[in-house]
Amino acid sequence: MNKRLIRIIIILVLGLGISAAIAAYQIHQEQNTPALDITKKKPQPASTSIVSENFGGPFTLTNHLGKRVTEKDYEGKWRLKYFGFTYCPAICPTELQKMAAAVDAAGEKGKKIIPIFISVDPERDTVEVMKDYVELFHPRLIGLTGSVEEIDAVKDAYKVYAAKEQDETMSDYTVDHSSFVYLIDPENNLRRIFRIQDKASDITEFIEQVL
Ligand code: NI
Repeated sequence: MNKRLIRIIIILVLGLGISAAIAAYQIHQEQNTPALDITKKKPQPASTSIVSENFGGPFTLTNHLGKRVTEKDYEGKWRLKYFGFTYCPAICPTELQKMAAAVDAAGEKGKKIIPIFISVDPERDTVEVMKDYVELFHPRLIGLTGSVEEIDAVKDAYKVYAAKEQDETMSDYTVDHSSFVYLIDPENNLRRIFRIQDKASDITEFIEQVL
């Protein structure tokens, strides 16, 4: 084969590789994106900014104080909800800090919001682990965990993606999961989804508009 032909073949192979990588990346992104995705839009006026009515669904879980709770315990209140796990090395602590900072910065309006952290790793996130963990972030942060079945049900209800991943270089598993902060109003309407790239001040600003 002449050199020119070899070069063309190399370029074609590289091109295919890049296309496959892009496709794989997009599939991964879709898996991590809930069906409801309005975060690319700018917040609308408060009165019209309902993303999804009757968001989530019924659940029975155990809070970080060991009490059994259901969705009824939090209805009628504004809520910021985040799904993650306590062993998460970076994203979860950052998002929980952000939630806590946003609520505090919103002053009196912030006090009307219940920050809630729901575990997607119920096997390791026991009540005791959750208690120690939530206290690190905010005195009012509620930690919820449960059996594997209970957590699977609440993940389904909130369209949360989470899957165990075993890294060969580590003795323990990690959990790959979607990372969204949900703002839910007292009538259970989803009012906004905040993403990793949103700052605490973005959350505070929205709270000040909508509450
Ligand atoms: Ni995480």
